[in-house]
Amino acid sequence: MQTPSSPVANPKTYRVKSFGCQMNVYDGERMAELLAEQGIAPAPEGEDADLVVLNTCHIREKAAEKVYSDIGRLKRDDGTSPLIAVAGCVAQAEGEEIMTRAPAVKMVVGPQAYHRLPQMVAEAVAGRRATDTDMPAETKFDALPRRRRSGPSAFLTVQEGCDKFCTYCVVPYTRGAEISRPYAALIDEAKRLVEAGAREITLLGQNVNAWSGEDAKGRAVGLDGLARELAAIPELARIRYTTSHPNDMTQGLIDAHSEIAKLMPFLHLPVQAGNDRVLKAMNRSHTVESYLKILDRVRAVRPDIALSGDFIVGFPGETEAEFADTLKLVDAVGYSQCYSFKYSPRAGTPAATMGDQVPAAVMDERLQRLQAALNRDQAAFNAATVGKTCTVLVERRGKLPGQWLGKSPWLQSVHFIGEAAIGDLVTVEIASAGPNSLAGVLKVPADASAA
Ligand code: SAH
Ligand code: SF4
Ligand code: F3S
Repeated sequence: MQTPSSPVANPKTYRVKSFGCQMNVYDGERMAELLAEQGIAPAPEGEDADLVVLNTCHIREKAAEKVYSDIGRLKRDDGTSPLIAVAGCVAQAEGEEIMTRAPAVKMVVGPQAYHRLPQMVAEAVAGRRATDTDMPAETKFDALPRRRRSGPSAFLTVQEGCDKFCTYCVVPYTRGAEISRPYAALIDEAKRLVEAGAREITLLGQNVNAWSGEDAKGRAVGLDGLARELAAIPELARIRYTTSHPNDMTQGLIDAHSEIAKLMPFLHLPVQAGNDRVLKAMNRSHTVESYLKILDRVRAVRPDIALSGDFIVGFPGETEAEFADTLKLVDAVGYSQCYSFKYSPRAGTPAATMGDQVPAAVMDERLQRLQAALNRDQAAFNAATVGKTCTVLVERRGKLPGQWLGKSPWLQSVHFIGEAAIGDLVTVEIASAGPNSLAGVLKVPADASAA
């Protein structure tokens, strides 16, 4: 779709704002790289940009509404706006509506079409508004520039889309069907990231453990095979992956947690609810028991693994007793950290039209109780690491002089004071723990392969 607008000057600076999950952040980085290749520079901190990409998230109602207030806020005092592109999952789901409701938006580009952003910018400069929400399966990645920049911890999207159709979720509609990027392309992108400074790579996918491919010898491999190959890159010290679905948790991937030293002892495995009737209504296709059995198998090979998850409270029809089952499951698992959300009805999903929607006040109260339990367990998990010696990948400076911040193998934030640099893998002894971070004491520089 193209509608006329006035021609404007070529943008000199850009800003990409990402609002969603890690894959949305990855897409934001790739869009920034594309714009930089066009000679557009990142806008200095605190200064207006000529071109703003709002990289949106559609997962819950609040996230989706944010885009309109953000568009309004971009209006300058003289009434003009920068060139605005709306990207991400709201663009995919509501592109036409955005174009109608927000004349300041000149480009709408979906998550599978953003490799075309440079052409769309040229169109917008010429005064033509453009929407592209096509879903070509794999062409995007081939059209993106080579990776040249990376911090110590990098994201690498290996799998996109979802075929699971949980009844509350928009992802299968905004991201399309499950696809796996080819093995060789991923090894290549990982090597570029490492050359650019990455020491940790987090493999990303809406269902990352559904990734499958063929290795160099034509053998079928799963995510564990990919991780094994990445572990052979000498300068890469750590590998993580997220988000996994319980149904795709193969024994091969579980075993990888004891076999691949660089695979960090952390597993984000969302369960959503602790009651089988609710799980069935959610179309999760696992039960509480089958989920707990997976965790047992993971703990059997990697007893120190940190477990994480996602929860939804107030799914339509959830009773107090069913919610209490979620609290029971939390007690049984002992998570290290979790995300928890109030159910948000999403137009077009089956759950949105289910009867017995739970009142907001009930959801609020359940969320508070759940978060109290999760916070308690997170604090307990953190406290249990006091006295342990572990590696920390240094990601940035802290607020205090000589202070550094990084992550433990279990994905906790750790701060310490001493000689270090960004990208170092140092060894610290954990001296004390707060609810959200740990204080460490610097020991000797660590061996890159140690956990
Ligand atoms: N693919 C992943 C996560 C996808 S979205 C998985 O299946 O686990 C991230 C999280 O957002 C979900 O795990 C779920 O907890 C939450 N979420 C998704 N849709 C939601 C909705 N309609 N309301 C509230 N939370 C939702
Ligand atoms: Fe959404 Fe379910 Fe797919 Fe996760 S598995 S992205 S929650 S539909
Ligand atoms: Fe949001 Fe899309 Fe990610 S809806 S959570 S940005 S896949």
